[in-house]
This record gives sequence, structure tokens and C-alpha cells, in this order.
Amino acid sequence: MSAPILRIEELSAEFVTPDGTVKAVNHVSLSLREGGTLALTGESGSGKTSVALCALNLLPHPGRITSGRILLNNVDVLSLTSEALRQVRGRDIAMVFQDPATGLNPVLSVGQQVEEIITNHLEVPRREAKRRTVEVLGQMGLPEPAQVATRYPFQLSGGMAQRVMIAIATALNPKVLILDEPTSALDVTVQAAILQDLRRLQQTYGTSILLITHDLGIVAQMAEEVAIMYAGSVVEYAEARTLFDRPRHPYTWSLLASRPRWDREGGGRLPSIRGTPPSLIDLPDECPFLPRCPKATNVCRTERIPALIALEAGHYAACYNPIYQEEPAGAGARPD
Ligand SMILES: Nc1ncnc2c1ncn2[C@@H]1O[C@H](COP(=O)(O)OP(=O)(O)O)[C@@H](O)[C@H]1O
Ligand code: SF4
Ligand SMILES: [Mg+2]
Repeated sequence: MSAPILRIEELSAEFVTPDGTVKAVNHVSLSLREGGTLALTGESGSGKTSVALCALNLLPHPGRITSGRILLNNVDVLSLTSEALRQVRGRDIAMVFQDPATGLNPVLSVGQQVEEIITNHLEVPRREAKRRTVEVLGQMGLPEPAQVATRYPFQLSGGMAQRVMIAIATALNPKVLILDEPTSALDVTVQAAILQDLRRLQQTYGTSILLITHDLGIVAQMAEEVAIMYAGSVVEYAEARTLFDRPRHPYTWSLLASRPRWDREGGGRLPSIRGTPPSLIDLPDECPFLPRCPKATNVCRTERIPALIALEAGHYAACYNPIYQEEPAGAGARPD
């Protein structure tokens, strides 16, 4: 396996709100390999988007990073000056945001928006910026890219708008691309086509992808490695095949155990499991999954929150009673 290009080490972040401090990210460590795809998955509110925003040092007010390092090619992103950060964003690391409102500028044409990012970073003649614009739009599967470049956001379908946003993020060929729920709002056919374009892009340029999704079908299709987040922490981390074949954390196990449902209902959306996650304002001292856990024992009630430990090479789980049943309900659940 290739070396890591992006390492997130012991990252913690919080939002200070009038209701209290939301502990959105708690001691998260992740490692994205060069040319690889790491999926970050978990229920809504588990901290996925916050981790991604921290990776670009873009956590908005009232958010703040309280500890940790973000190493991009061994350079700590959090220690960079704002000018250095501006250079790094777009060129070395880029993100397609989950919130469509932060995506496209309604008053600029598609072409202007792609060209802007190119000319902001590179000293290239206008003609070259235009050529590259058409190239990246075509690369993201937009037919007649020169014509699409003249359109305004309101003239685009949802699928086209998403392709344009990915084209903007990839205009400078960033080494690391973060995609936050890139296809969640789209129908399955458009989704499949966009994922295919992303895979082709990755093969052509060796782009490393951090893919945030709550769709286990997409995880299975796209990722070599997976981190499962729960209540702001990574609770299980493994190669995708291992995780689908041998889930060890009861939360992952529960998700995969409901596979017939997520499979049959299509889309692979994260199944809902019994109970609700804890408030991130009053995070308990013990395992945050305790109230929902079918495997809980006394130790879970008396000990503090379990740390992520290696159960086998490259397979980590944060649990006092990891599941070792060789035929869990999720076994063989990896859809091909
Ligand atoms: N701007 C914000 N202000 C206050 N709380 C926030 C803000 N953004 C996110 N949060 C909280 O942080 C937690 C993690 O959110 P988020 O990172 O968006 O999770 P996910 O992407 O997994 O849905 C949630 O409890 C959410 O309500
Ligand atoms: S530590 Fe205990 S409560 Fe938490 S997931 Fe493991 S078995 Fe369940
Ligand atoms: Mg999110």
C-alpha cells in the first residue's frame, strides 16, 4: 500500500453555542493513502463534515479546533499562514462541500467560476485558462463542455451542478480531494455516472479521495479503507473488505446486520438502528454507544470511553467487547 498523503492526528474540535459546547470531533485520527480512497461514514451529526472542514482549516465560527494536527504531505495545515493556506487550498487539497449554498455563485457563469480558480493560482494566459476549463468540465462527464461553460447555475440540473462543483474542485488537479456527500441529492443513475467519472479521474491523476457518505453501497463501491464515526469519534477503522466481512464494533455490526434492508430499499442509505445518538453537548464519560448497544456489559458502564485499539493488522475498533462471531449478520454483506 502507498504512503499516507493526508494524516489527521488526534483531532478534536468543538462549537461553542449558547446551549453549551458541542464536542463535534473527539480525538479523531485518520490516514489517507496516496491515490487511495478513504470513506468516512456514520449517522448524520456524527462529525464527518466537521472533520473535513478541519482538514482545510475552514471550520466556521463558532467552531474551533482544540487539539491535533493535519499533516498534508508532512506539512501541518494548521500551522500555515493564511497566504500559504490559500495556496494549498485548491492546488494541494480541495473540497466539494455538502451545502449546495456554498457551492456555485449564482451570478457568474460556469466558465467564469472554473477560470477564476485557475487564474487565482496559476500565471497562465486567459486562453489557457479557458482551454483547461473546457477540459475539466469534459472530464467530469459534462457533454458539450464549451457550451456548458456559458451557462449560469440556475440553468443546470442537480446532476450537472454537482459535476460543475467537482470540476471546480479538481481544476488544479489537487492531490487530495474531499467529497462531502457528493451524490446524496441525486438519483441513482446520475449518482452511478458521477462516481464512475470520479474513479476515472482518480486513475488518471492518482488523486487521493476522502469520501464522506452515509451510503454503505457507495462505500463498498469506492473505498479501500473505511472509518466509521459515532458521536464525534472514529469507532471502527479498517480496509473496506475487512470491515464488511468482519465488523467488530457493535455499531458497525448493527449497521451491517440490517443489510437486507439497506440493500432491498436501494441506495444503500445508512440504516436507522434502535435509539438515538447522545447529545454532543453532554457527552457521557462512558462509551457513547452504551444506551443502544446490544453487547453492553458491566465493564462498559464502569469504565471510561474505550480507546481505538488494533484487533488485527490495520483493523481498529473502540469497544470493550468487540464482536468475534465469524458469521455476523453482515458477513458476505459486501455488495459487488
Ligand atoms: N456551525 C455549527 N454550530 C454549532 N454546531 C454545529 C455547527 N456545525 C455542526 N455543528 C454540530 O456538530 C456536530 C457534528 O456535525 P457535522 O460535522 O455536520 O456532522 P455530520 O457531517 O456527520 O452530519 C453536530 O452535533 C452538529 O449539530
Ligand atoms: S464498549 Fe460496550 S457499550 Fe460500547 S460498543 Fe462496546 S460493548 Fe457496546
Ligand atoms: Mg455532514
